[in-house]
Amino acid sequence: MACLTLENVNFQYKNKAQTVRAVQEATAQFERGKFYAIIGKSGSGKTTLVSLLAGLDKPADGEVAFEGTNLKNLNVYDYRLHHVSVIYQSYNLFPLMTALENVMFPLYVRKTPKKQAREAAKQALAMVGLDERFYKRLPSMLSGGEQQRVAIARALASGSEVLLADEPTGNLDEENGKIVVSLLKTLAHEQNRCVIVVTHDLSIAAQADVVFEMRDGFIREKQPEA
Ligand SMILES: Nc1ncnc2c1ncn2[C@@H]1O[C@H](COP(=O)(O)OP(=O)(O)OP(=O)(O)O)[C@@H](O)[C@H]1O
Ligand SMILES: [Mg+2]
Repeated sequence: MACLTLENVNFQYKNKAQTVRAVQEATAQFERGKFYAIIGKSGSGKTTLVSLLAGLDKPADGEVAFEGTNLKNLNVYDYRLHHVSVIYQSYNLFPLMTALENVMFPLYVRKTPKKQAREAAKQALAMVGLDERFYKRLPSMLSGGEQQRVAIARALASGSEVLLADEPTGNLDEENGKIVVSLLKTLAHEQNRCVIVVTHDLSIAAQADVVFEMRDGFIREKQPEA
């Protein structure tokens, strides 16, 4: 069974002045053990799609399902806390927590013993190239790329089946970008997670098992070029 499915999903942003059809008739399937890329121009609906998959937005119509169950019929808080991790385009770190505390947070929520959580968090930070010099810094004391790496470490430490990453390498140099992509790939292939990455970087998309392209809210699978 697919881990995440979208079936005829529509989503609009509405205000008095206008309606933006951000996602239109989206149908797609995402499995565990695979690394997916979603590409598409700015404004094509990628971040909106991630919000729908993460249960942060609700479709106007159509269905988003996790392991065969419509998110409508799931406890969305439980889904978000226990099954899905999101690396946001704008990081969304907790501003009053240190780097280490940020990474420990999902483990804390899942009631992992503190010592174990701290070790797992340190390990995850090491994986993205951040050592003990960074543990006690608040997000405001980190560069953009460092914040991005803390956000990635937080998702790595969480152990969630589903990992959604919105432009996770947008602020990283080439070397760190490569490390992050190879980590995400490993999580999919060796830890059987469902990893979905939104990216403008075609060299990342080239490494994905499946590439989807979004255009004006429509999503379709991109066939490998012959
Ligand atoms: N809160 C909002 N209110 C109204 N319109 C919105 C809102 N957020 C996004 N949109 C519109 O919805 C469409 C899709 O936006 P979305 O953020 O999903 O695009 P994107 O593909 O992630 O773009 P980018 O590559 O620039 O991050 C765009 O036309 C955008 O202007
Ligand atoms: Mg976006």
